[in-house]
Amino acid sequence: MVGTTHNYEGLRAIAERHGQGHLFQFWPQLDEVQRAELLADVAEIDFELCASLLDEFVRRKPVIPLPERIEAAAILPRRGEGPRDGEYDAARRVGEEAIRGGRVAAFTVAGGQGTRLGFEGPKGAFRISPIRGAPLFQLFAEGLRRVGLRWGVTPAWYIMTSPQNHAETRAFFDAHAFFGLRPADVIFFQQGQMPAFRPDGRMLLSERHRVALSPNGHGGSLRALATSGALADMRRRGVEQISYFQVDNPLVAVIDPLFIGLHVRRGSEMSSKAVRKADDLERVGNFCLADGKLSVIEYSDLPDELARQRNADGTRRFDAGSIAIHILERGFAERVTEGRLGGQLPWHRADKKVSTVDEHGRPVQPAAPNGVKLEMFVFDAIPLARSAMVMYTDRGEEFSPVKNAEGVDSVHTARRDMIRRAAAWLERCGARIPRAADGEPAAVLEISPTFAMDADDLARQLPEPPTIATGAHVLIDEGREWPCADPAASI
Ligand code: UTP
Repeated sequence: MVGTTHNYEGLRAIAERHGQGHLFQFWPQLDEVQRAELLADVAEIDFELCASLLDEFVRRKPVIPLPERIEAAAILPRRGEGPRDGEYDAARRVGEEAIRGGRVAAFTVAGGQGTRLGFEGPKGAFRISPIRGAPLFQLFAEGLRRVGLRWGVTPAWYIMTSPQNHAETRAFFDAHAFFGLRPADVIFFQQGQMPAFRPDGRMLLSERHRVALSPNGHGGSLRALATSGALADMRRRGVEQISYFQVDNPLVAVIDPLFIGLHVRRGSEMSSKAVRKADDLERVGNFCLADGKLSVIEYSDLPDELARQRNADGTRRFDAGSIAIHILERGFAERVTEGRLGGQLPWHRADKKVSTVDEHGRPVQPAAPNGVKLEMFVFDAIPLARSAMVMYTDRGEEFSPVKNAEGVDSVHTARRDMIRRAAAWLERCGARIPRAADGEPAAVLEISPTFAMDADDLARQLPEPPTIATGAHVLIDEGREWPCADPAASI
């Protein structure tokens, strides 16, 4: 293995120069395959970058100064509450035109490890929909197919994975025939990784022959878009706007013509959707003007007295919570990713439990956090935009993330919210929804995104409102009978 030997010497020298020679402490005991894996891990590490972060972020807890002035940001109203001057109608038409022209692509960040959900496999493969058990990726694919049916062009779909789940994600799409999309229009690429550190700055091994690497945060998406060639691919295809969303939100409108149109008409480089916060201290990022720049301040960083402030009319002063739905102009993504460290956003430290090995190479499962991970967050790109806008949307329409197996933001709440939204759409079409004493729909309802993308679309599609009996399972899908022939098929 000449190549390996060559790599070994060079890589070991770099590691030692940076005080990380211990990564090779088990080298003499490793077989050829393990050696190759260790070298591949070490080759992933940007030692200079890591060295520059150790003092500020790892050896002590970073002190991130709050901006001097934190003010409320101007947020555009929700659809339906928009200005009466026709701006929203005109914007919607601009968005539709961009879709028809093939100038919009979807972009899902799916590189996370989904540790809280605890599901074996990529999170996008998790079967979430209440009747069919359709996985998250299928729902997004169906949303894109609906866009194609409506406007004649199915947008390209870029999916960012990480080395931890790339192969499995690809295999999942293969096994499901890309959910009816053209494989050439689904583009996968991998994000970068960062090592986990001990508090003294030494990098951790996860096994004797593996560095404890993990994905560098959804903020790593900008750099990965550039380095993977995805931005160049977008340019070739004529894509100008990137519709960004996370893999864990089954309610997301994968492509929203109104949002795209407002973003284009306002000359925004990076746009965002916000929901009104459920309570003052809700654990979502807060849209603010930080020293005059539109920014997201994390709930943990926004001082409580600001989070509790009220306007003169009693409404919350900082009321706009971030839901990780954005449009990025491709040109903006290109501009901020130029140069060697292009696309690098501020680092955030998280103290985590990292499986590792002791000095004899025996596995150690820590009971308390033993490692420091560093991640970038995509919303930190917003202040880099020359112009940025935020619009409110309804939480029940567009946001219900699957973060946990149980409790808040869980499998249960996401399914419940899918049913609630289906009920609201069907009611808008004139259906009568049976309801339990607590007001929840007393039927299991599912609308396939290929059938309708919103309530208006559903109204256009339904020949007449279906009759929904208490306890029924009603699936509204292309070419299917409803109510659902086989309620047992529901999950
Ligand atoms: P989360 O912050 O919820 O993290 O990601 P996670 O890794 O999915 O889950 P936990 O914290 O381990 O339980 C929000 C979104 O950002 C993506 C995730 O895939 C998800 O769509 N993400 C997160 C990445 O693409 N890369 C990352 O490095 C981190």
